[in-house]
Amino acid sequence: MNTTVVTGDQVLTQLIPRITQCMEGLNFTPKLATLMVGDNPSIRSYFRSIKKVAQKYGIEVIELTWDVTDTETVQHTIEQLNSDIDIGGILIGEPLPKGIDRTALVETISPTKDVDCMHPYNLGLLMAGRPRVLPSTVGSVWEILQFIGVPLTGKRAVIIGRSLVVGKPLAMLLLQKGVDATVTVCHSKTEQLTDITREADILIVAAGKPHLIGKEHVKRGTIVIDVGINVVAGKLVGDVKFDEVCQLASYITPVPGGVGKVTTHYLMYNLVKSYEHRR
Ligand SMILES: NC(=O)c1ccc[n+]([C@@H]2O[C@H](COP(=O)([O-])OP(=O)(O)OC[C@H]3O[C@@H](n4cnc5c(N)ncnc54)[C@H](OP(=O)(O)O)[C@@H]3O)[C@@H](O)[C@H]2O)c1
Repeated sequence: MNTTVVTGDQVLTQLIPRITQCMEGLNFTPKLATLMVGDNPSIRSYFRSIKKVAQKYGIEVIELTWDVTDTETVQHTIEQLNSDIDIGGILIGEPLPKGIDRTALVETISPTKDVDCMHPYNLGLLMAGRPRVLPSTVGSVWEILQFIGVPLTGKRAVIIGRSLVVGKPLAMLLLQKGVDATVTVCHSKTEQLTDITREADILIVAAGKPHLIGKEHVKRGTIVIDVGINVVAGKLVGDVKFDEVCQLASYITPVPGGVGKVTTHYLMYNLVKSYEHRR
């Protein structure tokens, strides 16, 4: 099989100029507020990479952290950020510690500053076929599909994972009129997963299960996008057995260096676009 490995760096050659162009239209420094409640090493590491990417664009990151706190305290800060015209986006680090009400926090964010499409209003717009913002991981997968450039109309897309941050919004996007894929969403209770994935023209895996997908799950010529990020024996691995699936896929993304690489940039894209929505 003639397989093309699609790296995040390749995809970024198309996304970065669009972000830079949006930046040129702003005559001020865009600001993103990141909120971390409790001390979570994976959130810390994600926020570190966000800050690094932001610096490249000249975007300022305001880091707000709380050790032990209550929902109301964080909500109060979000309200202040909502009314601060300099702040373009607000991002809450997840998972939140026990006792913190995620729904209350997410719904306090002004939908116009919700740069990761967490707010039900923005998810609703996506559901209604009028997305204003995409969750950054979904945006990243979309950019990868655009980069590959294969028409999606009528194609069978199988998504593994039904989370609110990846699987469900991605399904809504691919189902949208104009994109027109035929979408199947699988989850941990799905029976005969292999039979379903073998039907896929496009297989997007976001299960968070290391090496869940092997060659038995994939038909020849499938586009395979691996969203999974897992740490196994100190190494980052995806949800796909890259070496064996690579022999069957037409296009495949690696982990690391695939979807995740694009996600942080897509967040910056959402941030710079968010100022446009508020004009
Ligand atoms: N690359 C990036 O930029 C990026 C961004 C976000 C997340 N991620 C990664 O993507 C993965 C998914 O993230 P998430 O936040 O969506 O995770 P999540 O909230 O844990 O959702 C995982 C989904 O996978 C399903 N699932 C789990 N095991 C399965 C199995 N054996 N067969 C079929 N489905 C199964 C779950 O089903 P149930 O609903 O039945 O439990 C759930 O719907 C994680 O590895 C995460 O680290 C990567």
